[in-house]
Amino acid sequence: MSTILKTVAIISAMTGILAYLLSLANKTIGNYGEKKLTINKEHELTVDGGDTLLGALIDQEIFIPSACGGKGSCGYCKVKVIEGGGPFLPTEAGYVNKQEQAEGVRLSCQLKVKNDITIEIPEELFNVKQYDFDIEFMNDVTPKIRHLKAKLPEGNEIHFKAGQYAQILAPKYKGSREEVYRAYSIASSPSEKTSLEFFIGYIPNGVCTTYIHHHLKKHDKLTIVGPYGDFYYHEGDRPMVMVAIGTGMAPIMSILLYMRDHKIDRKATFYFGARTIEDLYMIDELTELTKELPNFTLKTCLSQPTESCNWTGEVGRVTDLIKKYLEDGPESEAYLCGSPKMIDSVTPLLKEKGIPEDRIFYDKFE
Ligand code: FES
Repeated sequence: MSTILKTVAIISAMTGILAYLLSLANKTIGNYGEKKLTINKEHELTVDGGDTLLGALIDQEIFIPSACGGKGSCGYCKVKVIEGGGPFLPTEAGYVNKQEQAEGVRLSCQLKVKNDITIEIPEELFNVKQYDFDIEFMNDVTPKIRHLKAKLPEGNEIHFKAGQYAQILAPKYKGSREEVYRAYSIASSPSEKTSLEFFIGYIPNGVCTTYIHHHLKKHDKLTIVGPYGDFYYHEGDRPMVMVAIGTGMAPIMSILLYMRDHKIDRKATFYFGARTIEDLYMIDELTELTKELPNFTLKTCLSQPTESCNWTGEVGRVTDLIKKYLEDGPESEAYLCGSPKMIDSVTPLLKEKGIPEDRIFYDKFE
């Protein structure tokens, strides 16, 4: 009997000690105290050590692009670390190449702030803010693309350049247990400072697209962070070549609306491709723009027209249209938006037509 009691007492004591050590560990491991975060040599902030650099920046309302929500699977959250970043991590290797590593580029969602840290970020990221919008309208412009208009509350404004994008936050919903940010190009004009419009394609099992297509309702709140991106309209008078398929039309629409609002009368040709007539959306609005912008031409093509399309226009891909119609390549600049496959097939063709690489601007997305 006394042996049993002794054993019970020893086990209880060991359990107590283990619990104490665990609670001590919880309090100390990961607690690095306050650290100094210096940005672009001029902004000095105090942050909680132990958090990821991305999290520490968000706490300071500095929003680095982060389409995967910090899971290390998008590669958007790159930041140049000058000092104090600690060793490069295996989880960063898939998105940071050797040259970037040598320059100090890190994935801010992977590295933890354990020391005072000095970083450099593009100055325009200080203009990125998080906003709560109201959904003003939603309309399916094709069976798979939803046109969304989100309005800011009274007294708020968002400033962006035509062609840029924003990140939409899909909250937790039935079927998704995590909050997820996804990047979408803005389709509206920058002159419209109190609302944003998007064309959002449905991707089966896509967390954010499923939320937008199947759960979001009119008058719901939607959190949007932005603006982001180095794909935007460049002032000048060169002829513009615009190429898009699918939802890649969004930033082109934003650029055309900006040109209309500012009465910019430069020559512009938009090569817009789709599979069937159902996928060729916003054609009335684009045709209207050809009237409002006298030097704007719209060239459309279908790659797989069916009999029910009653299509009498061009058949083929956007590359076929460009081969056939693009003439003033050497003077032009180009804006491409769509899948990596489309951009990788159009870029060499534009170069063949004489547009130098540094005048071909593109935004690749799935
Ligand atoms: S946020 Fe996606 S990789 Fe860091």
